[in-house]
Amino acid sequence: MTKSKRKRAKSQDAIALLKADHRQVEKWFKEFEKARTDGRKLELATDICNALKVHTTIEEEIFYPAFLDATDEKDIHHEAEVEHNGAKKLIAEIEASSPDDDYFDAKVTVLSEMIKHHVKEEEQPGGMFAEARDSDMDLDQLGEQLAARKAELEDDADDSDETPPPRGQKERSQPGREMKNAR
Ligand SMILES: [Fe+2]
Ligand SMILES: [Fe+2]
Repeated sequence: MTKSKRKRAKSQDAIALLKADHRQVEKWFKEFEKARTDGRKLELATDICNALKVHTTIEEEIFYPAFLDATDEKDIHHEAEVEHNGAKKLIAEIEASSPDDDYFDAKVTVLSEMIKHHVKEEEQPGGMFAEARDSDMDLDQLGEQLAARKAELEDDADDSDETPPPRGQKERSQPGREMKNAR
């Protein structure tokens, strides 16, 4: 049911599009908290990881560079990128794991906390989106670019969905293996 209504964001501006992504993932994180079966947990975690990979990619490829260009707000920009990197490591660990792993729920919960913090930084007053609105960025144009790139990345992900290897990520060798001695 999660895949059925695919929103082909028509002409949202860049910020509306990115915020809609945030709301979608928040909803899935909430559902994960309530999920009772491993199957449902895996489904939600997969949706969350895929959505976050697409979202962080379109931000990094399109929105963040345009933001830095227009505002010269290096601190906001760099912190956002560093937070993305932290999230991506955890996403890779979740993808290399499964609900029968003792640490699976903890990883998803910590990812949800990281994302909550990051989204707040983007959306809060004085944060990245507010600064973007105050700048001369062409948010409609960027919205179109983001939507197009997002659709492209989602199609790629759908193609690799057809074959079900749950942890075979194309060009990634051994992502989150360094986990065993968590002290
Ligand atoms: Fe975002
Ligand atoms: Fe972000």
